[in-house]
Amino acid sequence: MERQPKFKAFAANSQYEDGRAMRQPPAGTVPRETITMRPEITLGTDRKGAIVSAIPIPVTRELMDMGRAKFEIFCSACHGLVGDGVSPVATQMSLRPPPNLNKQPRVPGNVFQVISLGYGLTPSYAPQLTATERWAVVAYAEALRRSQSALLAEAPPDIQKKLREETP
Ligand code: HEC
Repeated sequence: MERQPKFKAFAANSQYEDGRAMRQPPAGTVPRETITMRPEITLGTDRKGAIVSAIPIPVTRELMDMGRAKFEIFCSACHGLVGDGVSPVATQMSLRPPPNLNKQPRVPGNVFQVISLGYGLTPSYAPQLTATERWAVVAYAEALRRSQSALLAEAPPDIQKKLREETP
């Protein structure tokens, strides 16, 4: 049992025509971690094809942190770190500068579809971001929007108190 004959990754295997030990998964193979049968999560639409109006997964601190990381990597270069469309790249985009994402509330399903399918000069990020990561970006973008025009009265009482003390 200590030593077993086996093929290691990248090793040769003469039993196969292409001589490789590593096999291609059959066409249509679904990775185990892929979310299936949940169009609201994977497509941003309900079973009837209507755009979802709420984020269909739990919005947790972890999701927000992930959303922030992904937004800063994939979106901020054009849309700016706070989503207001102010970025060095934006100044060079004469055709259509990246819009300020914070102007009005957006339907979460729409933003998800922009990220998944691309929109105008925004490319599709489906190859880079899993569905969960795309929803994380949607959640973070909404947090950014709120952060830019938040009323003091909307903050939790303890934060309100702290802010009042800090403001001269
Ligand atoms: C290469 C620069 C670039 C990158 C990177 C980029 N965008 Fe965009 N985005 C644009 C431009 C330009 C538009 C306007 C497209 C148009 O109107 O043709 C746009 C449009 C949008 C819109 C629609 C805005 C509206 O007014 O309807 C959303 C939402 C959006 N982007 C979100 C994102 C998110 C989220 C990311 C990151 C995952 C991202 N974008 C990455 C340039 C970019």
